[in-house]
Amino acid sequence: KTVDWDPEQAGKGGYDHFMLKEIHEQPTSIAQALEGRVDPGAGEIALEGFEPGTFADVDHVQLVACGTSYHAAMYGAFALRQAGIHATTVLANEYSVAAPPIDEDTLVIAVTQSGETADTLNALRRATAGGARTLALTNVVGSTAARQADDALFIRAGPEIGVAATKTFSSQVVMLVLLAQRITEDRLGDPAADPDTLLPALSQTPGAIDDLLESSRAAAIADRFEDSQSYFFIGRGLGYPVALEGALKFKEITYEHAEGFASGELKHGPLALVTADTPVFAVFVGDEDEKTLKNAAEAQTRGAPVVAVCPEGHRATEVADAHLEIPDTDPDVAGLLANVQLQLVSYHAAAQLDRPIDKPRNLAKSVTVE
Ligand code: G6P
Repeated sequence: KTVDWDPEQAGKGGYDHFMLKEIHEQPTSIAQALEGRVDPGAGEIALEGFEPGTFADVDHVQLVACGTSYHAAMYGAFALRQAGIHATTVLANEYSVAAPPIDEDTLVIAVTQSGETADTLNALRRATAGGARTLALTNVVGSTAARQADDALFIRAGPEIGVAATKTFSSQVVMLVLLAQRITEDRLGDPAADPDTLLPALSQTPGAIDDLLESSRAAAIADRFEDSQSYFFIGRGLGYPVALEGALKFKEITYEHAEGFASGELKHGPLALVTADTPVFAVFVGDEDEKTLKNAAEAQTRGAPVVAVCPEGHRATEVADAHLEIPDTDPDVAGLLANVQLQLVSYHAAAQLDRPIDKPRNLAKSVTVE
């Protein structure tokens, strides 16, 4: 008697889809990203190839990327700006049209999982031609971006098969938070965040994600809002890129209409679309949460159900129609946890609609044309 062996099924390690497997791999992939780079006891970080002082001359940081990597880049730029560093994010495909001015004191960071995205490689080339220092933050050792840039830093997430990026996003965010620490310390004399709170919080992230994965009610939330017309995601500060990423993931794999907005922008236009059929997922990461709560309440007044993504006991849980819990942590890493809840919402919504989750129509894992 023989047993049918399907290599693809075996690769999924018991999960129905690679995406779900990769969501569950995040405690491991984040631990790999931190390995040897973070010492919470000593309050120190070490980035191989980047000795303390290496970024002392960096006056401006430009982050270029596409898709999910662009959202990670926004997260990094925001962490840098909060600490007083000039940092901008430019979509790699827009960089050739109107790049901000660059000189030899500009550091251009290309954030690219594959290291092969044509738009991003093109932006890197332009940065080099303009005399900037370049750094590739990528998952693939030996990729074109890693070879093309002056320096490379690897996220060590392991292979990602699902077209929709999940574990690579969280590792990019972790690495950009670490880079922000090093750049700020080199440039301004003090790290972006207090190492005594940030580093233990980062080290505890794998365990926090494990807990979240075990207790998540994302499947029930996806089920409850299955017949909605459109799905909105809002967030402020570090919660804003998380809202954009939540919406991108949702549209990529469910084929339902989804948009992400800065919480404060809702009232400047998108509110016109809000009805009882448009659930609003509101991300709370500690950046002026009271204001975000007010923005969410404005949508609720127009009939929209509000799903708060926040720690247990947060004020938002009293106001929202439902909530998805994230472990209480440092504001710099709370967005990572909120993002995992939103990944699960997208996954379960797509599964209920029976979508081809690992290979959404019209999309490719790596786009090598401009
Ligand atoms: C494609 C993928 C996205 C990805 C983007 C950038 O569009 O479908 O998931 O975010 O490329 O890819 P990169 O490899 O540069 O991060």
